[in-house]
Amino acid sequence: MGRVEGSGESGGPGNRGSGEPRRSVPVSPVAWPGLRPAWVEVDLDAVAHNTRTLGAEVAPARVLAVVKADAYGHGAVPVARSAISAGASCLGVALVEEALALRAAGISAPVLVLSEPHPASADACAEHGIAVTVCTPAGVQAFGAAGRRGGRPVAAHLKVDTGMHRQGCDPAALPALAAAALAEPGLEVAGLWSHFAVADEPGQRATTDAQLARYSDALATAAAAGLAPRWRHLANSAGATLRDDARFDLVRLGIELYGLAPSPDLPGEATARLRPALALRAAVSAVRTVEAGERVSYGHRWAAPARTRVATLPVGYADGVRRGLSDRIRVRLGGRDFRQVGRVTMDQVMVDVGDAPVEVGEVATLLGDPARGEPGVREWSVALDTIDYEVTCGLSSRLPRVHHHGDRADGPVTAGPARAGRPVGTAPAGPGGEGVRR
Ligand SMILES: Cc1ncc(COP(=O)(O)O)c(C=O)c1O
Repeated sequence: MGRVEGSGESGGPGNRGSGEPRRSVPVSPVAWPGLRPAWVEVDLDAVAHNTRTLGAEVAPARVLAVVKADAYGHGAVPVARSAISAGASCLGVALVEEALALRAAGISAPVLVLSEPHPASADACAEHGIAVTVCTPAGVQAFGAAGRRGGRPVAAHLKVDTGMHRQGCDPAALPALAAAALAEPGLEVAGLWSHFAVADEPGQRATTDAQLARYSDALATAAAAGLAPRWRHLANSAGATLRDDARFDLVRLGIELYGLAPSPDLPGEATARLRPALALRAAVSAVRTVEAGERVSYGHRWAAPARTRVATLPVGYADGVRRGLSDRIRVRLGGRDFRQVGRVTMDQVMVDVGDAPVEVGEVATLLGDPARGEPGVREWSVALDTIDYEVTCGLSSRLPRVHHHGDRADGPVTAGPARAGRPVGTAPAGPGGEGVRR
C-alpha cells in the first residue's frame, strides 16, 4: 500500500481539499478512477496467476475462461485479455451481447456462448465468428442457416443434459441431434459438452459420478452417430479441481480464475493456491463522535455502547453492499479491523472506529485479500447465506473498475501483457475452431 499526505478532505488523485496536510494516510496502490472515491480494483496479475496455475493442473486439457456477467463483476475485457495471455484457449459467455462486446473490444479469441442463443442472434454469431451451444433441432436449423447465409459455418458445441436439467438435449435425442448437425453445411460441430450440478459438494460424489457416466455414454452415442468432437467438456471449477477424470479436452473455469471458491465445502487446500483478484475500497467521507447510547443509521437499530467515533464510507446497497450485511461485516482501515454498524443505506455505510485516529480521505477496504488480513468475499457470502459468485456479480456498475498488475499502480489496463512461452499476440487454436490473435 502506498501513502499520501491526507488533506483532511480527500486522500487520492481527487485530492482537491484545502488546508494543510495533517498526516500520512494509507491509500490503495491504484489511483481511484472516477470522481467518486469508491471503486473496485481488479489485479490482473492474480487472474493470470490463477489461469496459469489451473492450466498447469488440468493439462493436457485446455482452459475456457468463463467471463460472463462482466467476468463475475471483474470486468470482462481486461480479464479476458489476461486469461488468454496466460494460456486460456477460449472464452465463455452467457449472452451473445457479451460475446459481441468482446469482439467490439478487439478480442478475436474463440468465444463460446454457453447456452443455445435465440435464433434472432444467429446472423450476428455467424458474422462475428462466435461459437454457440446447440441443443435443439431448431438451433441446428437457425444457426446452420445463418452459417450458410454468411458463407462461413458457425462453430457449434452440442450440449447434452446429464442431470443438471437446465439446458441440453435429452441423451435419447442426441443421435438425431448429432446427425442433423453433422448434415448441416452451415455448422461446424466443434464440441459436445454437459454441465455438473453438484461438483462443488464433495458429499454428493455419487451424483457427479452418475453425470460423468452419462456424459461418457453420450460420447459413445455421438461416436456411433459419426461425431468425434474436437472439444469434449464437462467440468466447471469444482469439477476440474476435484475430478481429474472429468477434464476431457477442456475445462470451463470461472470462479477459481478469480481466486474464489465454488463453495465453502471445498477443502481449504483446493483454493489456497489461488489469489483473489478483486478488492472493494472507499475513502472515508465523514467522521463524527457519538455519545454512549446514541443511535446510528435508518431504523436506529445500533446504539453506541460507549462514546465512540463513527466513520462514513460512500458505498451502499446500490453498489452491491447488500442491506443484509448490516452490522455483519468488518472493514479494514489503517491495518485494523472495525465493525460496520447500523443499517447499510443506499449510498453509504457507517463504521465504528472507536478511538482510532481515522481521518476523512483515508482508504478503507471492504473486500480484499484475506492473506493480507483484508475481508474476503467469503465473509460476505457466509453472512448473506449465499455463494461468492453472487457477491462479486452483485457489485454494481456504479462502482468504477480499475485494473492493475499486482502492486504496480498503472491505472486502467487497455491491453494484457504478453506472457512467457508464447509469441506476442498469439495463442493456440481454440474451441471456436480458429487461431487466436490479440
Ligand atoms: C455452463 C457453465 N460452465 C462453466 C461455468 C463456470 O463455473 P465456475 O464458475 O463454478 O467455474 C458456469 C458458471 O456458472 C456455467 O454456467
